[in-house]
Amino acid sequence: MDVTVIYGANHKGSTYEIARLLLNSLEPETVHEFFLPRDFKDFCTGCTNCFMKSEDFCPHRDKLAPIITAMEHSDVLIFTSPVYVLHSTGQMKTFLDHFGYRFMIHRPSPSMFSYYYHCCRRRNEVCN
Ligand SMILES: Cc1cc2nc3c(=O)[nH]c(=O)nc-3n(C[C@H](O)[C@H](O)[C@H](O)COP(=O)(O)O)c2cc1C
Repeated sequence: MDVTVIYGANHKGSTYEIARLLLNSLEPETVHEFFLPRDFKDFCTGCTNCFMKSEDFCPHRDKLAPIITAMEHSDVLIFTSPVYVLHSTGQMKTFLDHFGYRFMIHRPSPSMFSYYYHCCRRRNEVCN
């Protein structure tokens, strides 16, 4: 099993430790890890090239490419973030903004259709 983890912060605090617990339980063969903003820090410019033309025209395409490749070759994707002012970290939001074109109403990627979505929140609260 291949797993990609996108950490919504650079530091290795409690969120990192929780992700490691989950990772260990999965016993993956390969783990691709990316820390934000260390491995990706650009803000979406709102150029809408990804919507109107193709994600290949995103000005940050080259920097995103290794992360997208890892994600598309993984069986499990883990996105982590501590709560910062009632939300995920700004760097996680900034990262996810670059995938707006994949929303169901735009151009969803068939490679993602077989994934299940689980959102784990504080104190063992789980939503699907
Ligand atoms: C800038 C900032 C904003 C935060 N905002 C919230 C918040 O809105 N609600 C909350 O419950 N905790 C908030 N916290 C606390 C962190 O979510 C909490 O300490 C978390 O466990 C930190 O995870 P970490 O050890 O992985 O950094 C905030 C912490 C920081 C640094």
